Amino acid sequence: MTDNKPDIPRWTLTRYLIEQRRRFPGASGDLNALLLDIALACKAIARIVARGALAEGGPAAGDTNVQGEEQKPLDVLSNQLFLRMNEWSGHLAGLASEEMELPQPIPEAYPRGKYLLVFDPLDGSSNIDVNVAVGSIFSILRAPAELIAGEHELCEADFLQPGAAQVAAGYAIYGPATMLVLTVGEGTVGFTLDPELGEFLLTHPALRVPEQTREFAINSSNSRFWEPPVKRYVDECLAGKVGARGKDFNMRWIASMVAEAHRILMRGGVFLYPRDSKDVSKPGRLRLLYEANPIALLMEQAGGRASTGRQPMLGVVPSSLHQRIPLVFGSRDEVERIERYHHEP
Ligand code: AHG
Ligand code: MN
Ligand code: MN
Ligand code: MN
Repeated sequence: MTDNKPDIPRWTLTRYLIEQRRRFPGASGDLNALLLDIALACKAIARIVARGALAEGGPAAGDTNVQGEEQKPLDVLSNQLFLRMNEWSGHLAGLASEEMELPQPIPEAYPRGKYLLVFDPLDGSSNIDVNVAVGSIFSILRAPAELIAGEHELCEADFLQPGAAQVAAGYAIYGPATMLVLTVGEGTVGFTLDPELGEFLLTHPALRVPEQTREFAINSSNSRFWEPPVKRYVDECLAGKVGARGKDFNMRWIASMVAEAHRILMRGGVFLYPRDSKDVSKPGRLRLLYEANPIALLMEQAGGRASTGRQPMLGVVPSSLHQRIPLVFGSRDEVERIERYHHEP
């Protein structure tokens, strides 16, 4: 790596990807090009987010998305940026996102590639109006051979692959600094955007989630709806050092999962958005394909753990594109404890 002397520039995202690609002699470079297009879309979103209320009008406020959520203008604009900056490249056979009910085929004008991109263009939308960190989350899957061969048209089933099948995953976090956190299967790394250069520079070459923590993140306003194992876990954290855990805990809740995940990658912690009885039609709030799975891969690649509370997240076989799922991730010891509580009689 570099020794950070000013005359020796840090690795750019491009250099990191080229160095990683050297593991696969004869690789086409398609994945690298796709990741650079995604990074460009994130830079375009970062620039708009940074302008806050000064940003030009943008699209009219959206209506309600397939999730039943009121779309913010930036939800719609971020989604359009991801589409327009990726559909033309010839690296993708299709795209899907939180903001689009159906998967988007590649327009006829462009060649069909070998990857699928599924994404949450703006995570933590409720924070955009109050100037709190938001992000974009992405997951890259291999397109089925039949789809690439044109034997069938793009369909929902093409995306219903377990998280372990992801080729790459990452997020951008639009905070005091804009960062890109990424895994291509060789650990989890972080890049910081140098706004003058317009480049993501490698600043965190080996992110690791500490196995232990004293910090938990959960939306406690839902506590009356929680299942017993979650209630037990949180009550023990709140009991502090005089309780079963023998140590005091701290709590955080930002309502931007990307910001929670980033804090946990930086200093440890555990995040829970469990299934609760508030709305039994929804087995949790977060979506499997473009929130839980990419974050789960990043956590596991950094030595953390990600689970539904009952089973490892990356093994879940999706049943639908916008499927919701209970999500627990972060410091290994805490996630394993929560899983034990779910399995005890
Ligand atoms: P999105 O803005 O993409 O719809 O996701 C918001 C998610 C996630 O980022 C966050 O952790 C969670 O919603 C917050 O849920 P509550 O508003 O129930 O706290
Ligand atoms: Mn949303
Ligand atoms: Mn989200
Ligand atoms: Mn979103």
